Amino acid sequence: MIGSYEAQSAAHQMTEQFYKSASKLINCHSNEIAFVDNATHAWDMAFYSLKLKKGDRVLTAKSEYASNYLAFLHRSKEIGFEIDVINDDNYGQLDLEDLQNKINEHVRLISITHIPTQGGLINPVEGVGRIAKNYNIPYLLDATQSIVQMPVDVVKIGCDFLCAMGGEYLRGPRGTGFLYVSNQRIADCNPPFIDLHSAKWVSNDKYELDQTAKRFETWEQNISAKLGRLTAIDYALSLGLPAIWDRFKVYLIYFVTSLMKFQE
Ligand SMILES: Cc1ncc(COP(=O)(O)O)c(C=O)c1O
Repeated sequence: MIGSYEAQSAAHQMTEQFYKSASKLINCHSNEIAFVDNATHAWDMAFYSLKLKKGDRVLTAKSEYASNYLAFLHRSKEIGFEIDVINDDNYGQLDLEDLQNKINEHVRLISITHIPTQGGLINPVEGVGRIAKNYNIPYLLDATQSIVQMPVDVVKIGCDFLCAMGGEYLRGPRGTGFLYVSNQRIADCNPPFIDLHSAKWVSNDKYELDQTAKRFETWEQNISAKLGRLTAIDYALSLGLPAIWDRFKVYLIYFVTSLMKFQE
């Protein structure tokens, strides 16, 4: 019989495949992916690693996920940055014109949710990405509900950080999530806590953070959940993301037309 550490090392090749598959899912490099135990934790690791200070502004949308907004409040009470909520347009999506009008030199983060938990709204994430890029403002996207429901491509969207969960549309095990951090932003991120996996202990007064998204991971991980997550991602990739999205759209059209008939 082998022990859990031996089993972990035997599974190493398979767990490394997790990064390759997750990066294929969202079109990034495998070293830009961190395995984290849920989407909220993944989002927190990115948000709490940013160096915000008094007088900075964080822009978000009305449909931001509740836990994310709580984290804004939690940190702004301590630091004193301003939280500014972008208006909705007539369709309930965040209004790109209002976002553009709210940009000034104090904006240090744009953080929004792609598809909120309820209601079927889809925010114009690529438009937000173009504005964020124009002003070189870090862009954090909560893609928990959009991953696998529809194709999510971080290059097309232009986000710097993205969080996702293992459940929901991916249909993998709960208690798994991942974080994408673009290689361009990684050096600016100071994780809220570190361990012997995310950093190297060099000497009594020196440590070095891992140069990849692994700086957001912990050494101890749920290996079976990670492999379950890998299986779910590979399954989605084998079906094809556009094909899955086409199937969802058929259900969405059916749902909306039934609702309209019901309201008549
Ligand atoms: C938009 C959104 N973000 C984040 C989460 C939280 O995900 P997790 O339970 O993996 O932390 C949810 C959960 O449903 C969600 O809908």
